[in-house]
Amino acid sequence: MRRKVIAGNWKMNMLPNETIEFIEKFEPLVKDTKNEIILCVPYTDLFYALLSAQNTNIKIGAQNMHFEEKGAYTGEVSGKMLKTIGVEYVIIGHSERRQYFNETDETVNKKLKAAFEYKLKPIVCVGETLEEHENNKTVEIITQQTKLALEGLTDEQVKNTIIAYEPIWAIGTGKTATSKDANNSIKEIRKEIEKIYGNEVANSVIIQYGGSVKSSNAKELFTTSDIDGGLVGGASLNPEEFAKIVNYDL
Ligand code: PGA
Repeated sequence: MRRKVIAGNWKMNMLPNETIEFIEKFEPLVKDTKNEIILCVPYTDLFYALLSAQNTNIKIGAQNMHFEEKGAYTGEVSGKMLKTIGVEYVIIGHSERRQYFNETDETVNKKLKAAFEYKLKPIVCVGETLEEHENNKTVEIITQQTKLALEGLTDEQVKNTIIAYEPIWAIGTGKTATSKDANNSIKEIRKEIEKIYGNEVANSVIIQYGGSVKSSNAKELFTTSDIDGGLVGGASLNPEEFAKIVNYDL
């Protein structure tokens, strides 16, 4: 049985004091869950989040990283820098980064390799646009993105990659893929991984759904055969609401 992993993606929200207050409120609400909890916070909140989440079941992640270790890349943060301060997870290739910051399948792949080099656990995002969705291109797009993201990784590394399937038309729009459609898309991603890396690897990979996950739809989504939790944006900014999502099975 695969574990469930519920990750919050705060995007460009929350100040350090809000981060500390959030974790103070959130932690007692989720202390009994068996599900894995990750909070992916802005760089400027990482240090505060790491201190506040010490000795709790909340793990901390960043939302991006550069693939180089160091150098003349003004404004960038490397995987080594994240690892050194104690960050455990990193989101790679979120659709907002692909859309607004020129992230490509190639840079996603480089970042994934760099994440493993610095012993960070990657959450890599794939997903189709509304136009691709309407033209029945979903499976083609998401399997291709998955294949290119994972290219050159070892079986062990693929097993330790979390994939987040996030249909772009469902992000921040209040529109959610039906649990059946999301589960089917995730099955296709798993099949693609099976084709390249075999059955054992494919069955171990955690694949989340993301896109307008909230407490009212979490249970329906997370109790399907192939959805192993969620990547949650807007609803992860409220401690009570996010705790309900984490506790969907309590
Ligand atoms: P949303 O965002 O939950 O606000 O739709 C999800 C995401 O972008 O990861």
